[in-house]
Amino acid sequence: EKGTYAHYMLKEIHEQPGVMRKIIQEYQDEKGELKIDKDIVKAVRKADRIYIVACGTSYNAGLVGKEYLEKWAGVPTEVHVASEFVYNMPLLSKKPLFIFISQSGETADSRAVLVAIKELGHTALTITNVPGSTLSREADHTLILHAGPEIAVASTKAYTAQIAVLAILAQVVAKDAGIKVDVDLLPELAKVTAAITAVIDDAHTIEGFATEFLETTRNAFFIGRTMDYYVGVEGSLKLKEISYIQAEGFAGGELKHGTIALIEDGTPVIALATQESVNLSIRGNVKEVVARGAKPLIVAMEGLEQDGDTYVIPQVHEMLAPLVSVVVTQLLAYYAALHRGCDVDKPRNLAKSVTVE
Ligand code: F6R
Repeated sequence: EKGTYAHYMLKEIHEQPGVMRKIIQEYQDEKGELKIDKDIVKAVRKADRIYIVACGTSYNAGLVGKEYLEKWAGVPTEVHVASEFVYNMPLLSKKPLFIFISQSGETADSRAVLVAIKELGHTALTITNVPGSTLSREADHTLILHAGPEIAVASTKAYTAQIAVLAILAQVVAKDAGIKVDVDLLPELAKVTAAITAVIDDAHTIEGFATEFLETTRNAFFIGRTMDYYVGVEGSLKLKEISYIQAEGFAGGELKHGTIALIEDGTPVIALATQESVNLSIRGNVKEVVARGAKPLIVAMEGLEQDGDTYVIPQVHEMLAPLVSVVVTQLLAYYAALHRGCDVDKPRNLAKSVTVE
């Protein structure tokens, strides 16, 4: 039930702190340490390369997850769009592990890859919100998202849950492998939970940005570098699917290689600045678009903020910043759609679970 919320999407955005707490609880042992099924840890440790396969928002979560698996667990990881992978399989490593990320566990494009790689005798782990779903039943292993039912077509809490579960998996594998990681995940996830709550409590402010920047625009761009680039891609997908604004997420440095031609007077450019190593360069990219007339909406993280930033999210570990900054983009998309009179929970041409090729 939607309860007091106007839409399922808004309810599900608000549920994210609770989902984070639930995940922290579900993936903890009696001693208060992160835990993942031993067989799954073994499967990851055995792999010489991980292939993440997914669609849409789940693919976007995979982009963030790749960073954890490589930087924390030390396993080379590739992220693939399922519908491409099935027709154009890359040269596989000797000991691949496949990770399917799917909120519904029913996406036909992802399932086609699962069937193909099982025929080749490879091992599969499904990360899904739905125990007993097709992708869960047909894989060797499953990790559950514990996000609760996601009803709105636009995925929100499943994305943050997917990222959190991938982070936990990478850390448990790192620990098992004796790799020291300088991020103490449990307390950091608690900080993330508080930061998401703070952003949601500020929804009214973000609604103001949605009306100011997005209510009447034809198009919009998201720019960011590294982790912020991935969040920009997800933010643009959310904005497109529910508000019908043509939106694109770009790597900050890539915009000038063509797409900058689309920047006109007043084009909204949403810039994400949560990563210290690229803070100066993304600021440079903002100047490039502003010089061409763009209207910048800058979302920075506390500690990296500068004069003129539009919104500042609370400080969390920068590897986990996507969990917080994405909530700003979810709320921007929600309120943009609302003020443009769109059917937020049931956007045109879309179904919640895409069970056809
Ligand atoms: C976007 C969205 C879709 C899904 C995609 C994969 O908001 O919901 O892009 O993420 O169809 O669905 P699952 O995760 O169920 O495989």
